[in-house]
Amino acid sequence: MAQEIALGVDIGTSRIKMVAGYVDSSDTLHVVASTSGPSEGVKKGSIANLDSLAHCIAEQWDKLRSAGDIRPSVCLTSIDGTSIASVNSSGSVAIERSGPVTESDVRRALDASGTISLKSSEAILHLIPKSFTVDDCSGIESPLGMTGSRLSVETHIIVGSQSAVSSRVSALSGTGLRTVGLVTHGVASAEGVLGADERDLGVCLVDVGAGTTNIVVYKGSGIVYSSTLAIGGSNITNDLALGLGVPFSVAERLKVALSDLSRLDNAQDERIPDVDLSKFLNEADLSQTGGIVRARLAEICELIASDLRTAGVHRYIPAGLALTGGTANLVGFSEFASEITGYRCHCATARRVLRSIDVSAKPEYACAAGLVRMAFREDASEIVRRVDNIDERGWRRRARRLVRGLLG
Ligand SMILES: Nc1ncnc2c1ncn2[C@@H]1O[C@H](COP(=O)(O)OP(=O)(O)O)[C@@H](O)[C@H]1O
Ligand SMILES: [Mg+2]
Repeated sequence: MAQEIALGVDIGTSRIKMVAGYVDSSDTLHVVASTSGPSEGVKKGSIANLDSLAHCIAEQWDKLRSAGDIRPSVCLTSIDGTSIASVNSSGSVAIERSGPVTESDVRRALDASGTISLKSSEAILHLIPKSFTVDDCSGIESPLGMTGSRLSVETHIIVGSQSAVSSRVSALSGTGLRTVGLVTHGVASAEGVLGADERDLGVCLVDVGAGTTNIVVYKGSGIVYSSTLAIGGSNITNDLALGLGVPFSVAERLKVALSDLSRLDNAQDERIPDVDLSKFLNEADLSQTGGIVRARLAEICELIASDLRTAGVHRYIPAGLALTGGTANLVGFSEFASEITGYRCHCATARRVLRSIDVSAKPEYACAAGLVRMAFREDASEIVRRVDNIDERGWRRRARRLVRGLLG
């Protein structure tokens, strides 16, 4: 049987990243092809111009296909933006016939936890179980087969706007790809980067992209908190553009060319081998460069720390912060973030990746890699928000078939 391939499409504020690949039985992600290219029409993670975005996605899809005959069985895409909110909930049901817990009992308990009040424009994107309780026995990961009279579940629910969901699907429709599901950006990045040990211990994934910073906290393998802040690397570039008096595109290229906090501190002594840049930069006072970057980076770190404190989850993360997303390319970021936030911080890229130096080395691929991983999870049909019109059983079959295809 031919190897089934999943495609992850990460629609970012500044770049679209695509990864096609599969996960083998030893939990390694095999990359078949990957691309990254400019994204237009996205502001702070939300779609502002569907046409421009659809055009950029089609361009990347063509680029990816030029690498070979790629026919993904499933296509998952990310959803980002500040319309995403999260809440913890719980549900409790009587176990049918007080017998062993069945899939139907679990489904009813999850449904009970999902009865939260929503605006008409909102939809539940993810309803992720944290832990189950059967009668007095708590902290259960999977209650199937256990005996008792009452089943309760603690869940983490992520809510987003209905129209954001539809526009993501429309943005991909021009490619002829059938989008099967959506995963929120932070949850997908966490899937791409974090191993089971870190999650069990308690860790916070922080994806600092261009327009947004996504935060997801794991404790005991379940998500206990997630949020999206409307700040990211673009704010750093903006400050540089204003502070140095150069266009945004020049500031962006300067930031990425030096890409190291200590080099940015001494930008006036650096030779930047780009003719176009030097035209602008000769006029600018580059001695301020590092200070400008550090000031905004400090603000981003303070916002992250205060978000975790306000949510009361700061004591759940002994493994510290795993920093990823494009801004994590900045050399010196993790040390700087540790100083400001007081947490242990490290920069992280997609884990256990084979056959792609880009995907394994560049933190901006964390989300797209995580989308591919998500498609191969046995419980994918529980976590991924389905958006195509195949019925529940069809989707479960498809998810199971994918996994079986790998194991068999
Ligand atoms: N080498 C680098 N040094 C510093 N910042 C970088 C580097 N590479 C990318 N970035 C920044 O990362 C951000 C893009 O990251 P990405 O995760 O692709 O964001 P998004 O998903 O929001 O498009 C941009 O703000 C960009 O300036
Ligand atoms: Mg991103």
